[in-house]
Amino acid sequence: MSLFEKIDHHRLPSHIAIIMDGNGRWAKARGLERAEGHREGVSAIRKVVEAAIRASVQTLTLYAFSTENWYRPAEEIDGLMDLMVYAITKETADLKKNGVSIASIGDTSRLPVKVREALDTCIRETQDGRNLKLVIALSYSSKWELAEATRRITSDVIKGILKTEDISEETIGRYLTTSKLSDPDLLIRTGGEQRISNFLLWQCAYAEFYFTETFWPDFDEEAFYKAILDYQGRQRRYGKTSEQIESDK
Ligand code: IPE
Ligand code: IPE
Ligand code: MG
Repeated sequence: MSLFEKIDHHRLPSHIAIIMDGNGRWAKARGLERAEGHREGVSAIRKVVEAAIRASVQTLTLYAFSTENWYRPAEEIDGLMDLMVYAITKETADLKKNGVSIASIGDTSRLPVKVREALDTCIRETQDGRNLKLVIALSYSSKWELAEATRRITSDVIKGILKTEDISEETIGRYLTTSKLSDPDLLIRTGGEQRISNFLLWQCAYAEFYFTETFWPDFDEEAFYKAILDYQGRQRRYGKTSEQIESDK
């Protein structure tokens, strides 16, 4: 039985988020430049997108560049931005053909114009895709997003659009960049680190975490299915007891 056949299609994580880490170390281990690792990382994205469609996952959010990544050497940032333009432009037709719709989250005002343009074109071209929503977190960080939401909530309170006493958890969710998305059910991090690196802090309040030593360029369909199977072996209790969860079924 293949890993894919072992997946219980009635208990799929509907939203999977991935911290794609380990490109640099993958390259270093092979005596290559870090940029080679990033290039190989794009191939891994293609494989995982195909696997997500095949498994009927509804939303896949990929952490591609954090606001902290702006502190990397200029040469690496420039290379990454060029790679994004190249990959987004090259993949748009296939994404469209495969029914993938693209969205982005993050502080896009900091991105070079060429990246924003490539991204906007891709979002427009793929807007009718119904098989998978692929969300790219670009120049994203959770603390940036929460500060941004706070500024907008405060501004709406001042304008009288919102009452302070009406601010609930649901209100905060509506002011986040992920307002149209369900919370991730499964968060995968490749590359061996066991940290969240400023990614979807609010949204991952009840996500299941899956860490793997595999560097992102080596992550493939099988690795993705393995993570889903691991997720399916867990019991999500949301604060309740096992007995309550069993009797709720
Ligand atoms: C992840 O790989 C890609 C980005 C953060 C852009 P890294 O570049 O962080 O690779 P390591 O962690 O140095 O191996
Ligand atoms: C997290 O990877 C960000 C992305 C994968 C885009 P980093 O490599 O930047 O994470 P830290 O800084 O080591 O935690
Ligand atoms: Mg890293």
